[in-house]
Amino acid sequence: MAKETVIRDKKFRELITGETISKRIHEMAQEINRDYAGKEVVFLGILNGAFLFAADMFKSIDLKARISFVKLASYEGTRTSGSVKELIGWNEDISGMNVIVLEDIVDTGHTLERIIGELTIRKVTGIKIAALLFKPDAYLKNIPIDYIGFKIPNDFVVGYGLDYDGYGRNLPSVYTLVH
Ligand code: IMP
Ligand code: MG
Repeated sequence: MAKETVIRDKKFRELITGETISKRIHEMAQEINRDYAGKEVVFLGILNGAFLFAADMFKSIDLKARISFVKLASYEGTRTSGSVKELIGWNEDISGMNVIVLEDIVDTGHTLERIIGELTIRKVTGIKIAALLFKPDAYLKNIPIDYIGFKIPNDFVVGYGLDYDGYGRNLPSVYTLVH
């Protein structure tokens, strides 16, 4: 029987164990080490969800590398009624660098598109995307995802950095919602 856990009002079932996640991240890192051999790379983790993925990935990287983090923050527009997402936390000079974006999960791809737009403005040399989780059935964009940890069904997941209303990020495994 798969492990189950309750977060707030919802029940979740273990989908990918912590051990499987660790192994896969190590494989992804080896692939990146091979692809970028002899080159310098800047990793860009997207907070909050990617903090564990980024940390575990970065430990297995043996390239000349830096890591930095940005966050999508909601702020209330003064003239508009809706809220706009703004990318905050840029404090590295990344112009002319090979950047690898680290995302916890790519769902619709809206976030990814936003980040790629910002990177393009900053005149980076190359952009690649590494996502721990990818929901192909939810994806609405054509941006290729270069390194994918696991393709998963279009169901809500938590754990290993991903949250439900702020909770569940500390779970070592990834859990899927039980309907
Ligand atoms: P997208 O912009 O629709 O691709 O969604 C990307 C962001 O939404 C991710 O970085 C996550 O923070 C969040 N997200 C998408 N799907 C899930 C999920 O199943 N569980 C938790 N967070 C999710
Ligand atoms: Mg996220």
